Amino acid sequence: MSASNSQAKSDPTAPVPRAEPGPVIRLEQIKKTYHRGSEEVAALRGVDLSIGAGELVAVMGPSGSGKSTLMNLLGCLDRPTSGRYFLLGRDIAQESRDELARIRLRTIGFVFQGFHLLPRTSAAENVELPLHYAGVPTLERRQRALAALTRVGLAERADHTPAQLSGGQQQRVAIARALVNQPSLLLADEPTGNLDSRTSLEVMALLQDLHREGMTILIVTHESDIAAYAQRRLFIKDGRVRSDDRQTPRSAAADLENWQSE
Ligand SMILES: Nc1ncnc2c1ncn2[C@@H]1O[C@H](COP(=O)(O)OP(=O)(O)OP(=O)(O)O)[C@@H](O)[C@H]1O
Ligand SMILES: [Mg+2]
Repeated sequence: MSASNSQAKSDPTAPVPRAEPGPVIRLEQIKKTYHRGSEEVAALRGVDLSIGAGELVAVMGPSGSGKSTLMNLLGCLDRPTSGRYFLLGRDIAQESRDELARIRLRTIGFVFQGFHLLPRTSAAENVELPLHYAGVPTLERRQRALAALTRVGLAERADHTPAQLSGGQQQRVAIARALVNQPSLLLADEPTGNLDSRTSLEVMALLQDLHREGMTILIVTHESDIAAYAQRRLFIKDGRVRSDDRQTPRSAAADLENWQSE
């Protein structure tokens, strides 16, 4: 349709067309070595991985095993030392940093343990930020930010600053910010790490909702209670994938309901 073509041209955040059908993510022998002075740290030692559209995957493993390194590579925040990374069918392992930044802006939403919201800046303005970088006009920015805040149940808090929000609300603002560019992939590095159990459940219920709507989601977590809400669990150790299991996920919404009635 010509309408969607013209929209794709004018909207720098329009979803990236897929180069070919197939997995959202495919990694082949991905290695990442950090250099600290004369010391070399092999953070990833040959990771092969395929993640299909609409999967909800928990990534677990001990501290220092390479989970954040993997997420940063998947999120185009860094480049592998060697190996191939196909994102939506396109090999991007050796793209320039500028091109990776463009791909990231259009394709990936990131959620962090520490929320990473700007202080003294309203929830709406925080959510608008990626659209600002993408050059989306002011009025459309505001509309899309409010739609994303509505999606996470925080429309009425749009004018609040992070200090005026609870931890769980701040993380929902960060999730709205991650969603505002309509990404193909949502990456969350310990999104519940700073939250109490009840609030963690609320965040997981929201992520499960997004998963039901078709979003592809990867979550790093230390807690098997949290990993129980994913359909697939990857276990990483010493820079390698040691196990990769499918499971029937628990329902965070149901657990939340039971919690409320207790
Ligand atoms: N920027 C860096 N420079 C040098 N070494 C690094 C860098 N980032 C990570 N490393 C090293 O790479 C290894 C993997 O680190 P990574 O942060 O990926 O682990 P992790 O699984 O996320 O751990 P945690 O559970 O503690 O967050 C560790 O040995 C770490 O010290
Ligand atoms: Mg980490």
